[in-house]
Amino acid sequence: MTGIFITFEGPDGAGKTTQVKAFAERLTAQGYDVVLTREPGGTAISDKIRSLILDPAHKEMADITEVLLYAASRAQHVQEVIVPALQSGKLVVCDRFVDASIAYQGYGLGIAIDQVAAVNRLATGGLVPDRTYLLDVSVEEGRDRLQARTGLDRIEQKGAPYHERVRAGFHELAARHPERIQLIHASKPADEVAEDIFADFTAWLTHK
Ligand code: TMP
Repeated sequence: MTGIFITFEGPDGAGKTTQVKAFAERLTAQGYDVVLTREPGGTAISDKIRSLILDPAHKEMADITEVLLYAASRAQHVQEVIVPALQSGKLVVCDRFVDASIAYQGYGLGIAIDQVAAVNRLATGGLVPDRTYLLDVSVEEGRDRLQARTGLDRIEQKGAPYHERVRAGFHELAARHPERIQLIHASKPADEVAEDIFADFTAWLTHK
């Protein structure tokens, strides 16, 4: 595939959505053919699955159901949007991907990491991002930022110990895949965070 696949990850409240948008806009302005998308979501079917997963009323959702729904949403997204865009040489910027399932469902819920990875290999056909920006803030700071919003979703409503496991899971992933995952300190002002990401991307592209 000739395109470039970039993903953004991080604990809830890390400012990821703002950064993904700024990154995509900057690259579009530079002439890249950018496809900006997100998970769970990115297609009509995947958006319906997103609503199912995140609905705060679905308190009874079994952990395995959650893993499989994220993976089902991803399978559709990969086949319908990501792979065709990469095949036509586009730069795909995706807000979350498989690392989120490893961190949230694997480390967070305590489901065996190799099983979460196996389900996701099936869902993605083994597609791995070229580069991943892991936006890191403390759980406390992330939760402070979330409090500013109204209506937390089912995952955001889980307690601090769960979110600590998720954050530790992301750190573990970054340590395991240093060639792909770039840790970004995200408690700084948003424009400084954006500069750090862009500087890394430019350097990475030059040495790729
Ligand atoms: P978002 O806040 O980045 O839109 O993601 C929605 C929530 O879904 C967020 O709390 C992270 C969670 N999530 C998982 O638990 N597993 C996954 O595979 C993905 C993509 C997201």
